[in-house]
Amino acid sequence: MASVQADVFRSLNDSLAFDWRLAPYDVEQSVAHATMLAASGIISDADRDALHEALAVVAEEVREQRFVFTDGDEDVHMAIERRVTELAGEAGGRLHTARSRNDQVATDMAMFTREAATRAVAATIELAEVLVDLAERHLDWEMPGYTHLQRAQPVYLGHHLLAYTWMLLRDAERFRAVMHATRPLPLGAGALAGVNFATDRELIAAELGFTAVAENSIDAVSNRDFVLDYLAAAATCATHLSRLGAELVLWSSEEFGFCEVADAWASGSSIMPQKKNPDAAELLRAKAPRIVAHLSAMHGVMHGLPLTYNKDMQEDKEHLFDSVDTLELVLAAATGMLTTITFKRDRLADAAGDEFLAATDIADHLVKRGMPFRSAHHVVGTLVRQAVNSGRKLSELTPQELSAASPLLEPDGFYALLSDGAWLESKLSRGGTGLVALRDQLMHARSALEHVRSGRL
Ligand code: ARG
Repeated sequence: MASVQADVFRSLNDSLAFDWRLAPYDVEQSVAHATMLAASGIISDADRDALHEALAVVAEEVREQRFVFTDGDEDVHMAIERRVTELAGEAGGRLHTARSRNDQVATDMAMFTREAATRAVAATIELAEVLVDLAERHLDWEMPGYTHLQRAQPVYLGHHLLAYTWMLLRDAERFRAVMHATRPLPLGAGALAGVNFATDRELIAAELGFTAVAENSIDAVSNRDFVLDYLAAAATCATHLSRLGAELVLWSSEEFGFCEVADAWASGSSIMPQKKNPDAAELLRAKAPRIVAHLSAMHGVMHGLPLTYNKDMQEDKEHLFDSVDTLELVLAAATGMLTTITFKRDRLADAAGDEFLAATDIADHLVKRGMPFRSAHHVVGTLVRQAVNSGRKLSELTPQELSAASPLLEPDGFYALLSDGAWLESKLSRGGTGLVALRDQLMHARSALEHVRSGRL
């Protein structure tokens, strides 16, 4: 059969070049399958022992990267079965009893995805923890908050960093949900309709760490939801990291000067000795669309696909594998970079000291004295224009000018609003930047972290 296949067909059809990564899972599930076949009286104990012995050899060859693939191996499942048969003779031919590559590959993929999601939970929690620590150390460092990348209202750096903590905590929860999606064991579904033997699927599930058995054989071999779920969680997480990366790029520029990434996370220029480029932050920014593309491609593969297995589904692997590798890399880079970053308190404070950032507070002062917010907004707009046009700060406007703008504008109150830090501490509401609320938030972030770590969704 193999000899009549066109070379290009083989290049297109063979998946060994990438699905070799499933080898450890494939071996593990074959061990469990052989155990179950013997326990159910489908093969003899002697055949089981021969299979287990051969699979142990294969496991070692895989671990030590000594496993030799041969020309006829179409995919990892066939390669391993071929090798088991070389080692165990006739018993090897019994391994594929009561199973199909369709339920086999779905099982390998669920195992791979479960482990990847488990690692992603740990890595997102670790990064969230680095962020909380960083926030605590910079809790009351003033900085400008931005909208439209225009200075809007001042905030504390601790507040800004905690925003990323919450994103990462949500990511961790999403990856926990992915783990949940890999709970049911596909193996035992056969090609699609079940198998002609009284197999014990619960036994295999228990051996392989699945906490349920897929209830419908047709669904079991058609299902790649858990792959989509991982890709969706990874796309969202990478998108968060891209926003972090983008901010670090801006902030480490000469123009902002808010932070400096450690030398270990930057490169110099080959011709401009003064330069330190935040490459890692730039790549955090750029990697997200790659994972989003894998998610989109995988939706493309699965949409409109008739039940049950179709070869299209072989495409799940490269999208998943590259996403896992990319995500793990950017999570590790973000963690390393933030562990070693330094922030520049003076530069942040200078930028936050821009009095125009108190505009909202002045408007609210008028509102508290009875003026409708829209009118107050207009009055403050006039004051800002007056100050800008005459090259002065807001606090340099005279009491006469203030009263002329509005009789409700009480000069003492106005100047007090512009005194140092006043317009940060005026933010009293829960979740806001005022230090009392911020300390509460820090506490809540720490307990949320413990909550996610403990595995309670
Ligand atoms: N290499 C295949 C895949 O990754 C394994 C399943 C093959 N099943 C089949 N009926 N041809 O999807």
